[in-house]
Amino acid sequence: MISKELLEKMNEQITHEFFSAHYYLAMAAYFVEEDLDGFANFFKVQAEEERFHAMKFFEFISDQGEMPDIKGFKDPRKDFSSPREVFELALKHEQLVTGLIHDLMDMAQKDRHYPSISLLQWFVDEQVEEEATMGKLLKKIQRVGSEGAGLLMLDQELAARTFTPPAG
Ligand code: FEO
Repeated sequence: MISKELLEKMNEQITHEFFSAHYYLAMAAYFVEEDLDGFANFFKVQAEEERFHAMKFFEFISDQGEMPDIKGFKDPRKDFSSPREVFELALKHEQLVTGLIHDLMDMAQKDRHYPSISLLQWFVDEQVEEEATMGKLLKKIQRVGSEGAGLLMLDQELAARTFTPPAG
């Protein structure tokens, strides 16, 4: 049986994942305003991924015979000054989420709660990808700068991203 403490942290993670979706949607809105629709698309798709993550915790908690506890959160930041800053913040946010997932894994391992360990292993792997994606794009932006032809090419590249629910 899942412990009260672990359940509480899992519930908090639902909120963190939905907050991530909101944060990325705020980033998408910034790019719409900047007429960079490909970047906006990238963050809209990222927001969908985050909702998928939130629902994965929701379903897991339900499957454990517990009631998911849905809470609210503060407004996300939305005063971005450049594409580069957005990706710096997005990478920082993913690193924060990785820390939260690792804390959950520590708890699950301490409790020897194998269903949670199995779920969290999926998230540990997913976070490696999430950080890599943001990190690579940040490097590209650092290379091309926040204006000019390079940025428009990157914008075109990101317009092609679509949401496919991750395996697992
Ligand atoms: Fe749900 Fe981007 O981590």
